[in-house]
Amino acid sequence: MLQHRMEALNMIFKRALPKVIGMDISGTSIKVVKLSKLEHAYQLDVLGYEPLPPNLVQEHEIQNVEEMARHIKNLVSRLKLDNSQVAIAISGSAVITKVIEMNAGLTEYEQEIHIESVADQYIPFPLSEVALDYDVVGPIANQPNKVEVLLAVARSELVDKYKTAVELAGLTPMYIDVETYAIERGYHALLHDQYPDKVVAVVNVGNLVTTLNVLANGRTTYTREQLFGGKQLTEEIQAQYSLSFEEAEKKKRANDLPADYHQEILTPFMQTIAQQIARSLQFYYSSGEHRDIQQILLAGGSSNIIGLTEVIEAELHLPVALIHPFSKMKISKQISEETLQAYASSLTAACGLALRSFTG
Ligand SMILES: Nc1ncnc2c1ncn2[C@@H]1O[C@H](COP(=O)(O)OP(=O)(O)OP(=O)(O)O)[C@@H](O)[C@H]1O
Ligand SMILES: [Mg+2]
Repeated sequence: MLQHRMEALNMIFKRALPKVIGMDISGTSIKVVKLSKLEHAYQLDVLGYEPLPPNLVQEHEIQNVEEMARHIKNLVSRLKLDNSQVAIAISGSAVITKVIEMNAGLTEYEQEIHIESVADQYIPFPLSEVALDYDVVGPIANQPNKVEVLLAVARSELVDKYKTAVELAGLTPMYIDVETYAIERGYHALLHDQYPDKVVAVVNVGNLVTTLNVLANGRTTYTREQLFGGKQLTEEIQAQYSLSFEEAEKKKRANDLPADYHQEILTPFMQTIAQQIARSLQFYYSSGEHRDIQQILLAGGSSNIIGLTEVIEAELHLPVALIHPFSKMKISKQISEETLQAYASSLTAACGLALRSFTG
């Protein structure tokens, strides 16, 4: 009991925000972003990328913690970020998030007791096996004595694998976030002022997974994950041109393929992406959300496909723009324009994690 109280007290007095690097450990790679805050803007100090062997992460779970630690260590040593404090994220279906109501005016201690007592209603496995966190979002309209609370729950075993991999690499995990929240934080800090009154859909097209985050007034109101992504395109290239997976992946990124590639493979694939997004938006509308989406923002590695925005615009009749999280930042001289262009769109989550240095 006392220990509980003291932990809460520690949190209250933890005024100085720890300076962290953002580390997005995803299906295909580890991505690192380090930011600093200037008077009127952020500066991108470090950008790092380390490809991962296939299957090291499966269904959002690290399959071999020691091997992952070696990849993390390689990357941070190369970037001279050894011993850093880091913010990492777990993602998608690995985390359950729920919005619940709670009485307003509770102390932090009372809130914790309340959450513990109601959490098992929302969780499909025993409380002893889960890592749990919550955030008081704010008051509820027309209910002055209630607040809205966001609850996030994941299996402890899965969270521990991420934590251990980072620790074995000599780093200190300061924050374990949820990818959706990291994307929201990135959006809020870097893009929201361009779309202040709009309902925006951030669509992250990765390798195996595509996620949809619908944001209104800069806050997430709906999320959905689809098992679909750029790997499908690599496999089609591999089959059509009798290449190894690695060759197909390389040629795909370099856009170095035979003349019939665009018509035979790429255009139908882009149309499939557009249809997948349309499907996700249908789920959003049928979930009881009625505010129309006014803008689509594309992120993730597969958003680099040239011509994709136009295909989605034509299919969905909505404006589509690519996310470039660093467009308004000062960029360190160490980072080449080429590196920035190749990786920027897939770094929204890493950027949102790095922003924890300034927003907590
Ligand atoms: N220039 C490019 N052209 C086409 N596809 C690209 C390009 N650059 C990256 N990609 C594709 O983007 C995908 C990787 O994107 P990203 O880094 O966002 O995925 P991830 O987060 O690691 O994976 P996931 O979220 O699916 O587990 C790969 O399929 C890769 O081939
Ligand atoms: Mg991803």
